[in-house]
Amino acid sequence: MIVLGLESSCDETGVALYDTERGLIAQQLHSQIDLHAAYGGVVPELASRDHVRRMPALIRQTVSEAGVSMQDIDAVAYTAGPGLAGALLIAAGTGQALAAALGIAALPIHHLEGHLLSPLLADDPPDFPFVALLVSGGHTQLMRVDGVGRYALLGESVDDAAGEAFDKTAKLMGLAYPGGPVLARLADQGTAGRVKLPRPMLHSGDLNFSFSGLKTAVMTQLRDGTAAPADMAAEFQAAVIDVLVAKSLAALKQTGLSRLVVAGGVGANQSLRSRLNEAATRRRQRVYYPEPALCTDNGAMIAFAGALRLAEGQRGNDTHTVSVRPRWPLDSLAAPG
Ligand code: KG4
Ligand code: ZN
Repeated sequence: MIVLGLESSCDETGVALYDTERGLIAQQLHSQIDLHAAYGGVVPELASRDHVRRMPALIRQTVSEAGVSMQDIDAVAYTAGPGLAGALLIAAGTGQALAAALGIAALPIHHLEGHLLSPLLADDPPDFPFVALLVSGGHTQLMRVDGVGRYALLGESVDDAAGEAFDKTAKLMGLAYPGGPVLARLADQGTAGRVKLPRPMLHSGDLNFSFSGLKTAVMTQLRDGTAAPADMAAEFQAAVIDVLVAKSLAALKQTGLSRLVVAGGVGANQSLRSRLNEAATRRRQRVYYPEPALCTDNGAMIAFAGALRLAEGQRGNDTHTVSVRPRWPLDSLAAPG
């Protein structure tokens, strides 16, 4: 069975084809970074218009890259939320239109479910159950995952997401957009501990996070004007990572599980990866990641989540209704079938 995946929830247009026999057979991605750079952040209206322009060509390229025809596609999976409403409508509208034209099923997919299941696309995938650390631009959550659609929230950020904290801090430090990866690169040239930043909620006794205070602390110290930018970046990154690592280990302890899956854009952070790997190895636990190219938004994770849901008996909706859910709690999903 071949599933077409469509993603347009934010500033990346992603298209992919997943074959249940052969795995991922083609994928195309267009990033809108250049489009939004001048504004220092994503402009929703511009994002939607660009998704409309890019989506048809990306679908044609993906189908031709895979060497299949449109008629070979058995189902369409598209991101239905959470995300920017106008942007989400592009993949939803395209997906439902294609499904109607081809007479096949259309599956609305939760964007974070796509991220969360993406490590299962790797060569040596984890078995269920596992703890998932979801660290994207919009979400920071720890989930207990017992199967597809079986998610229990263990803890989450009470304010800014980890990626959002990276982006906002980078912006107030005057770094180029998009800030997260730029700040991470600068951090590698500095030394943590030369300036001191708090580790918010490290000892809160629960699995929740708070990152909005960090950017305020950075702002205050920048005003004092003594810290080198690289040292500030290194300390900021260390502060975020200290909390993410401690809470992830606490979640493994609380659930009694030994597998941790890390997904979402911040999961691309090399320092986070080496700190988690070190801590897990010491405890005979294991950390799983999506391959680097699949950490940030893409169509492959959506096609794959759709294929898993179909395999477990989920039926596509055939009413061709185009509806999206800009806010959609992951733990409200149901198991397929
Ligand atoms: O998952 P994603 O592509 O989009 C959302 O669904 O939000 O995540 C994007 C986020 C951004 O906030 C970006 O700054 C952050 O991931 N990010 C990083 C790194 N690469 C991307 N943050 C820290 N270090 C990185 N290397
Ligand atoms: Zn994402």
